[in-house]
Amino acid sequence: MIKELEKLQNENNYRSLKSLDYEGNFIIYKGKKLLNLCSNDYLSLNINQELKHKFLKNIKDKDFYFSSASSRSLSGGFSIFEELESLLENFFKGKNALLFNSGFSLNYSCIQALATLKNTLFLADKFIHASMIDGLKGANFFRFRHNDMQNLSLLLEKHHKNYERIIILSEALFSMDGDFAHIKQLVEFKKTYKNILLYIDEAHSVGCFDESGLGIVKSLGLEKDIDFLVLTFGKALASYGACMLCSRKAKDFFINKARALIYSTALAPINVAFTKFIFERLKTFDKERKALKNISSFFKNLLKDYNIMGDAYIVSLLIGSNEKASFLANKLLENGFFAPAIKEPTVPKNTARIRFSLNANLKKDELLPLKELL
Ligand SMILES: Cc1ncc(COP(=O)(O)O)c(C=O)c1O
Repeated sequence: MIKELEKLQNENNYRSLKSLDYEGNFIIYKGKKLLNLCSNDYLSLNINQELKHKFLKNIKDKDFYFSSASSRSLSGGFSIFEELESLLENFFKGKNALLFNSGFSLNYSCIQALATLKNTLFLADKFIHASMIDGLKGANFFRFRHNDMQNLSLLLEKHHKNYERIIILSEALFSMDGDFAHIKQLVEFKKTYKNILLYIDEAHSVGCFDESGLGIVKSLGLEKDIDFLVLTFGKALASYGACMLCSRKAKDFFINKARALIYSTALAPINVAFTKFIFERLKTFDKERKALKNISSFFKNLLKDYNIMGDAYIVSLLIGSNEKASFLANKLLENGFFAPAIKEPTVPKNTARIRFSLNANLKKDELLPLKELL
């Protein structure tokens, strides 16, 4: 264990936890006030104290539980779970909704369950999240180059005859490079190859796209073509938990096979009630979505002369080595910005970066001084 930790330290890749306090968009760390540029609170709902007070004022007694005290398949099935699932099923007509404790446990255990189906191959984008990669352990899978539809097409052509089903795994808005998946093209593949199923994770896009706020797939009107659509609640929705949207049969399959659902205490009812409260208001956060779009354009323009990536509000400044990325992150910290370096294995080796994730409440003049520091 000690050797492992020493190795990480020598590689400038040692993680430690920080104790932080919050004041709106600022983090208080060791007495220093730092602009938070690494939260996934894209719509700034998590720092909207008024919104949370409103929720707490109206919480019903039947949902006022900080624990479900059991797995949902035993006595943890509080009625609020089905209420939220019904709401989501109403938003995504034709889909069945199933709540999970987190995006990680959803991806990990649903993919693990799907991998038990005979004659199944997964084709996974090279940059999918760790939770999906972990679910693939022991599965038949190949990775395709990130967002490279030609590479995926070659793999489909080569393998489609040998498997009963091929499940393509992608994110809608990628968490680290901040770019969009080619969802329309993925759906097109389903017309050519009849045994394809699409699994799309909207962790970083739900809340922020479409006038309903329900995500990129919804904005494209393609929800019926996505067989497994994943929403997570811990980012733009300022809550916790996740939801799988799929067919009735698939929902029953996961209820019986997804180990993280079966063998874990279900979400706290109060938390599910808060997620429902947010979803009920999601389409009213248009001002926040517009502000997020505007500040993202401003920021990308500000950094246009640097090596940046990102199609929306996740903007990554590519550095390369762990050492240089850590150096820059420290410099930012000393100058009032909280934007830690992201290193392998979260991103590929030698692509260490500063990943800026923006939010609706950021002000242009707060971001301006950053340019001089890079
Ligand atoms: C693409 C993606 N999926 C899933 C997750 C995990 O979601 P959760 O934080 O709800 O466990 C993350 C978390 O960062 C993510 O980026």
